[in-house]
Amino acid sequence: MSTALDAGNGKITVPDIASRKSTNSQSNSEKKKIVCLTAYDYPTARFVDEAGVDVVLVGDSLGMVVLGYENTLPLTMEEMLHHTRAVRRGVRKALLVADMPYGSFHGDTREAVRNAVRFVKEAGAEAVKVEGGERRMELIAQIVEAEIPVMGHIGLTPQSMHAFGGFRVQGKSVEAAEQLLRDARAVEAAGAFSVVVESVPRELAARITSELRIPTIGIGAGPECDGQILVLHDMIGLSVGHTPKFARRYANVGEAIRNAVGAYANDVREGRFPADEESYHLSSEVRERLLAVRRS
Ligand code: KIV
Repeated sequence: MSTALDAGNGKITVPDIASRKSTNSQSNSEKKKIVCLTAYDYPTARFVDEAGVDVVLVGDSLGMVVLGYENTLPLTMEEMLHHTRAVRRGVRKALLVADMPYGSFHGDTREAVRNAVRFVKEAGAEAVKVEGGERRMELIAQIVEAEIPVMGHIGLTPQSMHAFGGFRVQGKSVEAAEQLLRDARAVEAAGAFSVVVESVPRELAARITSELRIPTIGIGAGPECDGQILVLHDMIGLSVGHTPKFARRYANVGEAIRNAVGAYANDVREGRFPADEESYHLSSEVRERLLAVRRS
């Protein structure tokens, strides 16, 4: 099933990412920041991989930006597996990480480990991402024990939106910041190889980054993190509705699609599409014989 290169051939592995932890003594130019992006299907996976990102995440943002759910909670294991397989077919060099959807790890731990195994066995993922800090310690350790590398995710974890009362910046009070530090330490102690830090004040993300031995991957968490991740559809202008302030827009693909489709519709309606050079033709011999049949 896999189209991925073998390690040593330019393929990025979990140890490669873990070794990219920057140290305080490194200058900015010495730090090799980890570049991560989401992808959800074969063409986006190919383009993102060919552009040279280090990590491709099949995020559960899939539910919102591709499937049109209001939040990430309804997304199922089967939907995640289906899209992870498509992304696997498009990714050759980057590390492929799959997000464990809401409900796939919230009950029985053995069932959660089985779900993590499915991402590796049935969809070709090389690691899984699990939302949550301290309270996911035991689960992360069990998944790692099953030989599956885990990327943690702390701060604004969208699967906790009801508990948080919406999508809010996390860690703004002293107590909340201390809890986030405990979450970060717990995820590291449980054996995660990296951790996403989402929507937390820059100063707190910098403190977490300098304390941990594993790389931090920031999203709305300032520039001091060891790497950055964005939702692809936000950064290329293909998401519908609100985008957070940290999601810098590098293209406007949504507008490009609207303009292209509008031009196509006009051409069809005005009889300008298809042109003769976009049509197939009979050979003159067959054309003659057809006309002869019609005349007789
Ligand atoms: O689901 C997702 O895309 C994510 C990233 C934004 C980190 O969790």
